[in-house]
Amino acid sequence: MKIAVIGTGYVGLVTGASLAHLGHQVVCIDVDKDKIMLLQSGGMPIWEPGLEDMIRDAELKGMLDYSTDASAAVSGSDAVFLTIGTPSSESGEADLSALWSAVHSIAPMLPDNGLLIIKSTVPSGTCEQIESYLRKRLPFSSRIAVAHNPEFLRQGSAVRDFLAPDRLVFGASSPEAYNRLEEIYAPIKSPKIRCGLSEAELIKCASNAFLAMKISYANMMSDLCDALGVSIDAVVEGMGLDRRIGSEFLSAGAGYGGSCFPKDLHALIALASREHLDMELLKATESINRQRIQIIIQKLETALGSLEDKTVTVYGLTFKPNTDDIRESPALRICSMLQEVGARIMVYDPVVTCLPELQVDLTVDMYAAATGSDCVVIVTDWDQFRHLDWGRLRQVMRSSYVLDARNMLDTAEMAVNCERYGLHYMSMGR
Ligand code: UGA
Repeated sequence: MKIAVIGTGYVGLVTGASLAHLGHQVVCIDVDKDKIMLLQSGGMPIWEPGLEDMIRDAELKGMLDYSTDASAAVSGSDAVFLTIGTPSSESGEADLSALWSAVHSIAPMLPDNGLLIIKSTVPSGTCEQIESYLRKRLPFSSRIAVAHNPEFLRQGSAVRDFLAPDRLVFGASSPEAYNRLEEIYAPIKSPKIRCGLSEAELIKCASNAFLAMKISYANMMSDLCDALGVSIDAVVEGMGLDRRIGSEFLSAGAGYGGSCFPKDLHALIALASREHLDMELLKATESINRQRIQIIIQKLETALGSLEDKTVTVYGLTFKPNTDDIRESPALRICSMLQEVGARIMVYDPVVTCLPELQVDLTVDMYAAATGSDCVVIVTDWDQFRHLDWGRLRQVMRSSYVLDARNMLDTAEMAVNCERYGLHYMSMGR
């Protein structure tokens, strides 16, 4: 099939490259000339495991192209994917202005029997509005259909998530639209759910909100474990083995971040409030997540006393490992709060090497970042922090505290390292 992907951001590029890999002829389109030029000249605007290899392969086979001009690709397409960002506006609701502007501009270019597939995360009702806009705007004879096919891509495993998803959600209002979606995704054997446009929209936000809620639940239990002196590890392991609960997204730590969970929770709360519904569970989820930062600061103060004039080393800036994304990262909020209480901050992250908006010392060497430090706080669970040379770390530090705010290290191993090197190891709820 001939497919145009409008919006070559993170989701758009992964979608375009994966669809080309599945055997479709794809053009990725963006208004950002620099980004398109970068892709055309063999560069990569984002870092995502497996993506570059897949892109090079599809380019070699002539299945993947890039353009700033939507008209030719859209008018000759069997399907158009819209993968435009929908960031949170000040009110908490999703800002759909860029999405609508793309819909307005491509409407006249859509072929008569075209399929417009919205992949962007949008509030319930948006896709129906787009469909009715197109019906009014286009000639009566036009058989254009709108579908919603939400993405469930995690940064760091987006290619795998696209090609082997737990489920594919096909929201549409006509059999033709469902059938075309089935054809596009034919090589993927995951369960496929057919539902209405609004149901598909809600499946996406409700899924993200549920996962965020699971994380906050684990964090709430970890605070209780700290108070009772029991281990959250055993508690979540015992809970997670119940198949009705499941062990994923049940890790206590510094809390969730990223561009999706916080935004989708906001959007769901704002949407419900328009219907005079108070999403108490989601509000509690947000509040528990915000509190993580205070709890981390309290742990540091309990260990070190006042943090004024203390040096704290933050390990990891990204909102999770294997991404270069720092949006809504707990590490940024920890740095801001440490600054507020007068601590000096040194930062190391394996991929983020420049952070102009925060007054912190960013170094490219883990041990240099810990030199003269009173405490190392692991905020993002990058794999390399599992293999630290604890003897060397203790030698360069001024004091001996390590706070593992992601519970990524083994407590028994750390007990040995503490004994051997005179370290004080702390973690969350254990
Ligand atoms: C999330 C969803 O997992 C995807 O399914 C969805 O498609 C995507 O949002 C989106 O809406 O586009 P992502 O934001 O990339 O994906 O990251 P996750 O892997 O879900 O992690 C989110 C945050 O939760 C991270 O900060 C992570 O560190 C934190 N987390 C995760 C925990 O604190 N504890 C856990 O047990 C798991």
